[in-house]
Amino acid sequence: MAIVYGGDYNPEQWPRETWVEDMRLMREAGVNRVSVGIFSWAKFEPEEGRFDFAWFDEVLDLLHASGVEACLATPTASPPPWFAATYPEAVMVDARGRQLTHGSRQGFDPSSDVYLAKALAVTEQVGRRYHDHPAVKLWHIHNEYGCHNARSYSRAATAKFRLWLRERYGDLEGLNAAWGTAFWSQAYSSWDQVYAPLPTPTIPNPGQVLDFKRFSSWQLLQLYKAEAELLRSIDPSLPMTTNFMTGSHPDIDLWEFAGAVDVVSTDHYLEGPTGHINLGFAADFARSLGGGKPWILMEHSTSAVNWQGRNRAKAPRELLRNSFSHLARGADSVMFFQWRASKQGAEKWHSGMVPHAGTDSKIWREVCELGARLGELTEIEGSTVEADAAILWDYQNLWAQEHEAKPTTDLDLQKVFNDYYAALWRAGITADVAHPEGDLTGYRLVVVPALYLMSRKAAENLKDFVRGGGTVLVTAYSGIADETDTVYLGGYPGAIADLVGVRTEEFYPLIDSTVGLVSGGTGAVWSEAAEARDADVRDTYLDGTPAWTVNRFGEGAAHYLTTFVDDATLDRIVSAAAADAGVEPAAHAPAGVEVVRRSHDDGRSWLFCINHLDHDAQVKTATTTVDVPAGEVVVHAEHP
Ligand code: GAL
Repeated sequence: MAIVYGGDYNPEQWPRETWVEDMRLMREAGVNRVSVGIFSWAKFEPEEGRFDFAWFDEVLDLLHASGVEACLATPTASPPPWFAATYPEAVMVDARGRQLTHGSRQGFDPSSDVYLAKALAVTEQVGRRYHDHPAVKLWHIHNEYGCHNARSYSRAATAKFRLWLRERYGDLEGLNAAWGTAFWSQAYSSWDQVYAPLPTPTIPNPGQVLDFKRFSSWQLLQLYKAEAELLRSIDPSLPMTTNFMTGSHPDIDLWEFAGAVDVVSTDHYLEGPTGHINLGFAADFARSLGGGKPWILMEHSTSAVNWQGRNRAKAPRELLRNSFSHLARGADSVMFFQWRASKQGAEKWHSGMVPHAGTDSKIWREVCELGARLGELTEIEGSTVEADAAILWDYQNLWAQEHEAKPTTDLDLQKVFNDYYAALWRAGITADVAHPEGDLTGYRLVVVPALYLMSRKAAENLKDFVRGGGTVLVTAYSGIADETDTVYLGGYPGAIADLVGVRTEEFYPLIDSTVGLVSGGTGAVWSEAAEARDADVRDTYLDGTPAWTVNRFGEGAAHYLTTFVDDATLDRIVSAAAADAGVEPAAHAPAGVEVVRRSHDDGRSWLFCINHLDHDAQVKTATTTVDVPAGEVVVHAEHP
């Protein structure tokens, strides 16, 4: 089977003559699937209850006749103007309590029953009309749940939040205990007193804020499930997905969403100078959410986006490097937003596969080259990526750390996480992304960046992993509070003090200063008065306080860091932990050359070598040397 290749196709933005040209160009580029219908609600239902699908019948027929499959979306991410005009309260309310209005997209309140009814009505029409159209191969439910309206603070949200809390805690006694309402006289005596966390004079209750984030994520999942159930009742044979945003937008708990899709799909856009490393994480996370199965890259960009303030066009070959990085990390589909760059509307400055410049362009030539190269790689379809290492990511830990009152606002979990992921990336170590309570058997090394919120179950999970011979690398500010954000007492890190063999009495956040290490490295943001009880000390602050410790625990080892070290020191520590764990890179390559292996069970494998440097490089495996020219991608077959 072929690797899927294509992008979002929005024919409603163009006259019919352009559709005919589109079909010809899709064939020229090797496009074999497009996502359609994503923003078509206003065309499908121009007035409430009046549907018009004739134009779309033609689109699907044209695609089918051109050999292009359709990933058919439910259009529910962008209600038409009549929706907000008729039901103004069904649009979201923001965190400051302002009722928003129509004018962009995702103009709905996820807790609104009216929205749900209207979304299901149009979904039913689309489902019944097209489920057996020969072009349609996959349902694309909605678009990026929570991209703009992840949390609505409406009256409807408050009402549903109360129900959700009753389900979670049973009674007010349970709620009061979980939220620690003995503090500041916050004890609730009736459910009517509980609200979505709207603005309040000072620091809000952390339990309330955390639970509202959990509720809001759950609420979006209910919307997905309602559409999915409806479509399944119409035709149980078509698989479904919704496009996640694994590298950004951390407001929905994808660990919970992942169980509800038939195949994981994700969107990724480069941000900043190390965007290609975040790309690696987004791709590894997509693979991990699907339990290692091949996944769909539903959107990325051929060149610049339009929403970053200063939008960088991709350098020559960068489109190919990015696409191959996703492929290397387990994607079986490479798709873009969008097929044809718009000439009007909010995203007219966003690149597409057919750019404003037309086909006489760098972008089009690279789009065609990519299509041709993917066409030659059909054999890799279905192959998988094996990882000996994992890095732990939990949204709820992030949500708890987003709270304003904490030891230091300089500790940015996403930065810490990215730094540790980047160190693995630089070392050429392929990592899965794992949930703290997930199955860790099969890994040798588990990296634990600032896992402040750690349930007892997660702590036991880590301990079992190390007892059984695994190695963990744990940073400061891990194992501090349980899932209700209640601090573990008796010294930090309370949940795992025995695992790391260290006890800390007090934190000393670094305020406008750094801490020198005896090894020559530097720590920033954080320091703590750690006492190594059982652990060996590998490095210290200049005053002798432990900076890096290793504790033998059962058959394995726990590395613990009491500050956030510079990159060179981090590289050294990650290499040491990997060596302890017996984890090897996919191949030996200079930093900046990405190497990842995909294989089939029958032994056929491919080493993807992606050279992000501006000079030629060599990648060495046990048996061979692969030359990788500057900026290029080489896919090296390693069949027995
Ligand atoms: C995604 C979205 C697309 C498009 C794209 C632009 O978040 O799904 O519709 O807006 O971003 O980068």
